[in-house]
Amino acid sequence: MDIFETIKHDHRQVEELFSEIEKTKDSKKLSSLFHKIYQELNLHAKVEELTFYPSMREYEETEELLEEAEEEHNQVKILLEELQSLSPTSSEFKEKIGKLKTAVQHHVQEEEEEVFPKVRQSMSEEELDELSQEFEETKSKLQKEMAGTKK
Ligand SMILES: [Fe+2]
Ligand SMILES: [Fe+2]
Repeated sequence: MDIFETIKHDHRQVEELFSEIEKTKDSKKLSSLFHKIYQELNLHAKVEELTFYPSMREYEETEELLEEAEEEHNQVKILLEELQSLSPTSSEFKEKIGKLKTAVQHHVQEEEEEVFPKVRQSMSEEELDELSQEFEETKSKLQKEMAGTKK
């Protein structure tokens, strides 16, 4: 998989979780689905911030997209923290999860339609391969760390 497919794969996975959450009324299932979204989104954002985004800083055409992308990551993180303190069956939770979904959809669309084409234009095949490897490695390293702290 190239870097774009890898990132898109993460995006589709989170979209799947959102549609599962929308279909669920059971509070235990809602909690566990939210826990998964919380982890997946934070992990994905962190890996992007450690690998993909720094590489965007190297080219003018991609650098100018960074500020907005980082701002959107922050918005998502704030919503995730706010959601964590709400009961999953409350109306506030439902409303806020809707906001989160909209924010994520907007960010994902921008990444795939605006950022990816510019990154593809700016970077060489070699750079893209390296970036893809770096992304995968960082993700599995962080996943192991997360699993380690759960005990
Ligand atoms: Fe992102
Ligand atoms: Fe992303």
